[in-house]
Amino acid sequence: MNESALFEQKVASETAIEPKDWMPEHYRKTLIRQIGQHAHSEIVGMLPEANWLTRAPTLHRKAVLLAKIQDEAGHGMYLYSAAETLGGDRTELYQKMLAGEMKYSSIFNYPTLTWADIGVVGWLVDGAAIVNQVALCRTSYGPYARAMVRICKEESFHQRQGYEAVTALANGTEAQRAMLQDAINRWWWPSLMMFGPNDSESPNSAQSMAWKIKRLSNDELRQKFVDNTVHQVEALGMTVPDPDLKWNEELGHYEFGEIDWEEFNQVIQGHGICNQERLDAKRRAWDNGAWVREAALAHARKQNVRQVA
Ligand code: ACO
Repeated sequence: MNESALFEQKVASETAIEPKDWMPEHYRKTLIRQIGQHAHSEIVGMLPEANWLTRAPTLHRKAVLLAKIQDEAGHGMYLYSAAETLGGDRTELYQKMLAGEMKYSSIFNYPTLTWADIGVVGWLVDGAAIVNQVALCRTSYGPYARAMVRICKEESFHQRQGYEAVTALANGTEAQRAMLQDAINRWWWPSLMMFGPNDSESPNSAQSMAWKIKRLSNDELRQKFVDNTVHQVEALGMTVPDPDLKWNEELGHYEFGEIDWEEFNQVIQGHGICNQERLDAKRRAWDNGAWVREAALAHARKQNVRQVA
């Protein structure tokens, strides 16, 4: 059997593709793109939450938020490592993101205006991320699938802490309830956009589904998220900001309104509310961290010399 047939056979039989296996160049490139963008999303995703670290309402909430943000950094590192197993260069990928040549998730270009946003980000944004990432635990590339298993466990904790934080607000004063509803109104539609364009408009989906890089389509994942989440909104005594939302008994799914694709396209082309601010923050962090990278390299060189001697 030739290499290409062996690869196809592995994909068909759901035997993981491993780093040293032969794979089509396009498969490798698609994975480096997706895993790289996923890693960037974890790293940029730390910023909207960090905005509230110094203003968390209690020491307990601050400690939990800090732990969550550190988890996101860890997820980014796992994912960059997974991209490296495919020959991706971590620094090169990161520089492409800083130069605006590589995407990260649209969701992180929205501002966190109130404390309720932090709860809603944990609940809705991490909730949406989990729906996608649970499916990715069965992705065909072994190191990516294995990274997802660990990441999903942590994301699940993030989602629960978000829901716990919003529950406290829902049981709070009128002002807290209004703040929560406002946050839901602002984050609902951007959360639905996280799953990407409709299947008919998604240029990468057909090939990624055929190679089992993606196991469920953008629209299937989005539907799952809506079906999972509507009753959670209702349990909080809040409303979903979608007048077209209705349960379809026959299909066993919620029908929902049209996403503002113009807004989505603007955001992924770099023109969202916070795109500039996010990239500026990451560029500053890269420049300010130069001395740390130099020191770490100098230390590694010294250790090497000692080991050789
Ligand atoms: N934000 C930014 N870009 C997006 C988004 C989004 N929400 N959705 C789609 N895009 C981009 C795609 O990256 C692609 O751009 P590119 O070809 O220049 O790379 C383009 O829009 C067209 O979309 P698709 O053809 O549907 O792209 P793809 O098949 O890669 O599917 C998806 C997009 C579903 C996001 C997929 O890449 C994926 O599952 N990625 C892994 C999960 C992930 O990255 N999650 C990040 C947020 S979770 C978190 O960090 C907490």
